[in-house]
Amino acid sequence: MKNKDEQNIILVIGSLNMDLVAEVDHIPAVGETILSDSFTTVPGGKGANQACAAGRVAGGCSFIGAIGNDGYGKILQESLQNFQVDTKGLVVKQGKASGMAVVMVNKEGNNSIVVIPGANGALTPEDIASHQKLIEECEILVMQLEIPLETVLYAAKLAKSMGKTVLLDPAPVPEAFPEELYRYIDLIKPNETELERLTGLGTQGEDYISGAAFLRQKGVKNVLVTLGEKGAYFDSETEGKGFVAACPVEAVDTTAAGDAFTAAVAAKLSEGACLREAAEFASRVSSIVVTRKGAQSSIPTREELIFSL
Ligand code: RIB
Repeated sequence: MKNKDEQNIILVIGSLNMDLVAEVDHIPAVGETILSDSFTTVPGGKGANQACAAGRVAGGCSFIGAIGNDGYGKILQESLQNFQVDTKGLVVKQGKASGMAVVMVNKEGNNSIVVIPGANGALTPEDIASHQKLIEECEILVMQLEIPLETVLYAAKLAKSMGKTVLLDPAPVPEAFPEELYRYIDLIKPNETELERLTGLGTQGEDYISGAAFLRQKGVKNVLVTLGEKGAYFDSETEGKGFVAACPVEAVDTTAAGDAFTAAVAAKLSEGACLREAAEFASRVSSIVVTRKGAQSSIPTREELIFSL
């Protein structure tokens, strides 16, 4: 979605990774070696996945991130452009390799991921400052945590000072989450595991209700917890508390489902939808993503979204 001056309403700041994906029977245990008969390399990275999904769903998106001066970097940039993502904010870090992720996907479609940040880890507050115009132009800023925390904090603070809406997907959850960051977040979208790591509260039964309340007390206006097959739960300053159902599908690969969910929420909010509507829409988008293999390769086209939603 673009504003009246044809500028992208959504800006994603975050990571890009080349995903090295092995399909496995099961995720290996410590000390175990297993064989895989399928290996692929596909563009991924939580930031880039979110930007691609927002590009498709909202019809355009801006992006700030970092790649290395290497072959993977070029592929990652091209992929963004294929999804209608404006890459003016892409910074090339000399001497750094582009980010990579080793992804194992088991028979149930669940994954285990190790990220090697490379250039993502070198995205600085100065890089954000030099692309401040993109923040000025957007209405919604979306971030995750595969880039340095000080960069996320800087961007969130700057965006809030300009009156923008800040949406954070707190993945992966760092050892020490900076308390100050909560103050600048309008909407946080953890899954149950991330919620547990952020709050120290459990993942049993309906523990997510107290987890979400905990984050609200920290100053976050809206908390949206994704619960996998159980759907999503929200605790919102303006809309109260509620559930959104999941769309039942046969999962093949859940990689990027959470990223597409976050982007779809941002896209729907940018159209003026309420949080419940945005979460319902996002749940349908991510239900398509889990039926396909790979990260960006699993994001539906606009036409597919129109026919299937
Ligand atoms: O959320 C999925 C993504 O996590 C993968 O594409 C991988 O690159 C890691 O960032």
